[in-house]
Formats: sequence, C-alpha cells, structure tokens
Amino acid sequence: MTSSASGPTPPQDSRVLIFDTTLRDGEQSPGATMSHVEKLEIAELLDEMGVDIIEAGFPIASEGDFAAVRDIAQRSRQATICGLARANAKDIDRAWEAVRPAKSPRIHTFIGTSPLHRAIPNLTQDEMADRIHETVTHARNLCDDVQWSPMDATRTEWDYLKRVVEIAIRAGATTINIPDTVGYTAPVESARLIRRLIAEVEGAEEVIFATHCHNDLGMATANSLAAVEGGARQIECTINGLGERAGNTALEEIVMALKVRHDILPWTTRIDTTKIMNLSRRVATVSGFPVQFNKAIVGKNAFAHESGIHQDGMLKNAETFEIMRPADVGLKETSLVMGKHSGRAALRAKLKELGHDLSDNQLQDVFVRFKALADRKKEVYDEDIDALVRAQGAAEDALELKFLRVICGTEAPQSADLTLSVEGTDHQVTAQGDGPVDATFNAIKALVSHAARLQLYQVHAVTEGTDAQATVTVRLEEAGRIVTGQSADTDTVVASAKAYIAALNRLLVKRRTTSEGTDTKSVTYRDVV
Ligand code: KIV
Ligand code: ZN
Repeated sequence: MTSSASGPTPPQDSRVLIFDTTLRDGEQSPGATMSHVEKLEIAELLDEMGVDIIEAGFPIASEGDFAAVRDIAQRSRQATICGLARANAKDIDRAWEAVRPAKSPRIHTFIGTSPLHRAIPNLTQDEMADRIHETVTHARNLCDDVQWSPMDATRTEWDYLKRVVEIAIRAGATTINIPDTVGYTAPVESARLIRRLIAEVEGAEEVIFATHCHNDLGMATANSLAAVEGGARQIECTINGLGERAGNTALEEIVMALKVRHDILPWTTRIDTTKIMNLSRRVATVSGFPVQFNKAIVGKNAFAHESGIHQDGMLKNAETFEIMRPADVGLKETSLVMGKHSGRAALRAKLKELGHDLSDNQLQDVFVRFKALADRKKEVYDEDIDALVRAQGAAEDALELKFLRVICGTEAPQSADLTLSVEGTDHQVTAQGDGPVDATFNAIKALVSHAARLQLYQVHAVTEGTDAQATVTVRLEEAGRIVTGQSADTDTVVASAKAYIAALNRLLVKRRTTSEGTDTKSVTYRDVV
C-alpha cells in the first residue's frame, strides 16, 4: 500500500457525505464541456462550500481530463479528490497518477453488472466476478480509499449484485456505490435495495454505501433521500442536476431538503448552503446549460412571487409562501444600485455581493464592459453584471470578435461586415445570409474552418425592457464533439456572434485535447477569403 490517506471521516449515524460529480458525470453531458481553468475554479468553490468528495474527472479519457484531475488534486484543501476508472489496470493506474497529489485521494472504479451491461464486454458472471476482484485489489494496492460501483445496479439480478458487492468488499473497497444509471428505480425500491444490501451482504458494516441516481423519471432526489432512509451515507450529485440525459440528483435539492425538513429527514451535511446560488450560476455559465426558471432552489423564479395574493401574503409574513429564506441559499437583497456614475470600487463591491471574486485583470476587463453597458442602459441590474462576468473572454481564446456591422430589415439581402482576430491577427470578411444572425454566422464560418453543425440557438432576455441584455446560447456539434458557447449584449446579433465564437473557441480546444488522447495537434484555420 503506497498511500497513507484513508478518505473522509466515516459518517456518524446522522452525517451524510456529499459526493459531487459535476466535473465528471455533469461534464459528460453532451455540450457541457468546461475549460481547464473553469474546472479548477468550480472545484475550488465546491471545496469551499464543504463538499466531502469531488469526483474531478475521468483521467484516462484525455490528456485534458488527466491534467484537470491532477491540478485539482494538487490544489485540494478539505475535500477528497476522486478520479474515475473502468475495470482495468491501465485506467486505474492513470486515475491514481492523477489523484495521488491530493491530501485525500480516492480511486473510483466501476463495471456494468446488469445483464445488458455484461453483454457488452461479453463476460460470463464468473469472468466478471474475477475481473472485479482483480481490479479492486489492484486499486486498493495503490490507494487506501477505493470506491467501487456496479453500474446499472438497479437492473442487476439480486443474487449477482449481492455476490459482486461481497467480492468488492473482500478485495478492499471502502465505499460501495449503487448507481441507478438509467433513472429507473422508484423511492420505495431505492430504500429497500440499500436496506437489503446492508442486511444481507457479508462485510457490509465495513463500508459506506452510496447512492448515485439519474433523473430520467424525475425521481433522482426522492430516490437518493430514500436510499439514505435505507442506510446509504453518501449521496452522489451535481450542481443544478447537470448530467447526461435528464441529469443527476441535484446537490442543492438534497442539501436543502435535509436542512428544511430536518424534522423528518434527520441527517446533516457539511455544506455551507449560502454558497449554493453562486455555484449554481457559475456552473450554468461555464457549462453553457442555463438553469430552468422554475428549477427548485436555484431557478430565477424559485423565490419570486408575482400573483397579488402571494405578494400580499409575503408582505405580511414571508413564511406564508416561503419554506426557506432566500439568504439561506445565498440570494441577497441587492443593496447597491449601479449606473454610469459607479466607479471601480463600487463595481468590486457589487461583484463581491454577487459572489464573484475577480482578479485585478478580470475586474478591469469587466469594468470596461460595464462602463460601455452603462452608457447604453439607464439602470444596470445585478443580472446584467452577472452576464458581463459570464461573458468574460478567456485568456487562452484563439478567436475574438473585433468589429461587426449588420445590414438588415425588410429588403434582402441581409449582410454582415465582420472583423475577427484569429490568434492575434485581424481578418475581415463580408457575408450575406437569410437574416442578420445567419449573415453573421456565415461571415464567421468564412473565416474559421469547421464542419460543425448548429444544434441549438437560444436567446433569453436577462432583464426586462427593450434595452435588456440578450443572453445567447449556441451549441455546435462536430464529429461527435459537442460544445456550447454563451454571451450577452444589449445587441442580440452581437451577443449571437460572440456566443458562436465562444463555442468555436471551445471546439478548437476540444479538437486539440481529444485527438488521439494527445494535446499536440495544432489547430488549422481556413485561409481568409
Ligand atoms: O451512472 C452511472 O452508473 C455512473 C457510474 C460510472 C457510477 O455514472
Ligand atoms: Zn452516472
């Protein structure tokens, strides 16, 4: 055994460990790619918020994934840092190499155990059982803290599930995670399964049982809480419920349910709930997945009261319609009104109030854009400032919009005159299209070589009024690589151009980091027309 770490403190009866997989299962969601810097920032915020275990990525997947997990491990403070590995020595060695620098490292290895999943590697039950024994033993020889998951556990035959869980425990697994990979289970069954495993599995008392639910039937939170009732003491979840298909269990829902209904759900977590809102906004921004307005806990409308009866009740006593205070999740009443006379110090204070801790360079960048916005808009709302922070260009971006003028209206053709900086050199082009956005996108396409298909184009108004900023989301797909870009501006066409360019910047990074698992291929651009 080469590691001296032994994972987070095993929970007392009332403690539930929070295992966040936003950076692994969340990031796996098509289009939710995050940059290296963004992953480090999210991991730091998760650690600060009190998450017990951060699953930082899948190190064998690419050089980029490996580097992110290793750098997160190096910077970790309180949280255990976990890396995912399939059931083979190469994956496990790579995961160990990445998490090893953490104060408290964990290897998470898994294999699909249901009949459908066993058919993929074409293994018999006995062959798979041997593989589990070998790989968990191998992981445990490297690291004291090993989590093992039978993927698709909720559709695995009971006898076989019991058998392989016992094998993993004998081989040294310290956490047994029971995934509902396809979101198939229901609360009553979820509780029953964990309870039965704890009662009947030999060695169950030596490990922590975890629950990992997907939200295909909208029951992920209920299933996770039911698993805790059944005896699970680790919940796997993501911020905003980000994750493949309908997503994973939402961290904010679990944590707030345990806090608000402590009377009937008597379990506690280490989470500082006042940090939830900021994390939710940051994850929405960097993943490019906006939070639905009526999403529990973190949706824009979660604490808004519009109907007369509700407003009247709220004014008399907030508890009439609110079961938790906005401040409990980090939503504050705004105290500073911002406008064109506000200076740098006021902007810094406002950003702090909104949960953005920017470096001097970042502040300067946001300040310049804030001034430009304040010249165009009477009042600058908190949402506008959030959008400015979100739209910040990353230093590593290869493409930057320099100039855009669009001719549009009832007379065809609509055309866009565009200047784009490509790795520091300006290129200019004029293109036509079917409307101003189409003309703008055609101009960008003329300058940047790609075969990406536009999967999604979405416009949201950040605040009310015709001078509101528009937030535009663009999702592109090229050869199986899906990327999302987001931007905001009072001019919808400019926001569209910037969002498209942001998506292309991510695509360029993704092309580099996913080409044959190396980081070395350089990006090529089509000649300027
Ligand atoms: O959903 C799932 O089964 C997973 C495993 C890798 C734990 O994410
Ligand atoms: Zn999952």
